[in-house]
Amino acid sequence: MLDFNVGIIGTGKYIPDKIISNHTLETMVDTTDEWITRRTGIKERHLLEEDVPSYTMGAIAAKQAISDAGITPEDVDLIIATTEAPDYLSPSMACLIQGEINAKNAAAFDVNAACTGFVYAMTIAQQFIQTGYYKHILIVSNEALSRIVDWKNRSTCILFGDAAGAIVLGKVDKEYGIKESYIASFGDLGHSITIPCCFVSEDEKKKRREGMEHTIWQDGSEVFAFAVRAMTDATNLVLEKAGISINDVDMVVPHQANLRIINGAAKRLGLNDEQICVILQDTGNISSASIPVALDISAKNGKLKKGDILVFVAFGGGLTCGSLCLSWGK
Ligand code: COA
Repeated sequence: MLDFNVGIIGTGKYIPDKIISNHTLETMVDTTDEWITRRTGIKERHLLEEDVPSYTMGAIAAKQAISDAGITPEDVDLIIATTEAPDYLSPSMACLIQGEINAKNAAAFDVNAACTGFVYAMTIAQQFIQTGYYKHILIVSNEALSRIVDWKNRSTCILFGDAAGAIVLGKVDKEYGIKESYIASFGDLGHSITIPCCFVSEDEKKKRREGMEHTIWQDGSEVFAFAVRAMTDATNLVLEKAGISINDVDMVVPHQANLRIINGAAKRLGLNDEQICVILQDTGNISSASIPVALDISAKNGKLKKGDILVFVAFGGGLTCGSLCLSWGK
């Protein structure tokens, strides 16, 4: 038996200053603030300036998380980045961030599990620390979704925003840290959210305007149905693995895609409003950055107490889903 557990020892985030409100979107596409609010819960989203590379957001979030953990960039053994809109296919987002923060002793790679990326990355990182291979792992979820959105397509452009969230994982006392995790993929449903890259099929071209071949497309209602089911099942599964009842959970931090998805899953799980962390009204869907950004906001606002039981749960492209249960140890 190990005499330690793996837990979060630092958090950070970066949200760009520039705001696009629903009212601004009314001037860009055929939509209304009323429609967006009622169907999604989103009121505004933040956008990175066009001439700034996306990894700079992640670097700021990473520096905060490292400082919050009380370590230095040289102490980081591994960087795992998650993103749906990389600046380059190569170098990876993780390597770009490593260079920017001068974490010269770290290995670095990206994980592609779309909006579930953060939960996947935590699950991967946990194994490295548990086995003693690494001591400190930085996870950065860095998402500039404004760059893969067709700003003339009202069914997608209203949903997404830009931000980065980061955590440092390290050793914590045995009673705290990660209890259980669950990750799953459903490749047979991959067609329902797509962002073509080096090959664009005729099918994918038909779904988009000419010149917009590399933008995000989704079957909104198919994803919606999957999301409510996946968030509910993944939460139940991880709690069962951990031997914890839903009543013992202090806070669920869900992926922030649509308030109706969160409420649908919460109702099935029997969660009350106080148990759920929601930030999407101010950020929109920021993909894999949703959970670490929401977590950092909750931690810095003093909403988390040592020993609180938290559940992270996400779904996304792939399709993928995942959940993780932990005892907050900071
Ligand atoms: N403003 C006004 N009307 C809009 C609109 C907008 N921004 N977007 C779509 N509409 C219209 C549609 O054209 C449709 O009109 P019609 O009935 O005349 O054809 C009507 O509103 C209803 O569209 P529908 O797609 O059924 O709406 P919805 O209630 O399912 O909401 C989503 C659409 C995309 C918000 C919702 O399906 C969703 O959130 N899905 C999950 C997507 C997701 O989470 N993706 C991220 C994965 S990580």
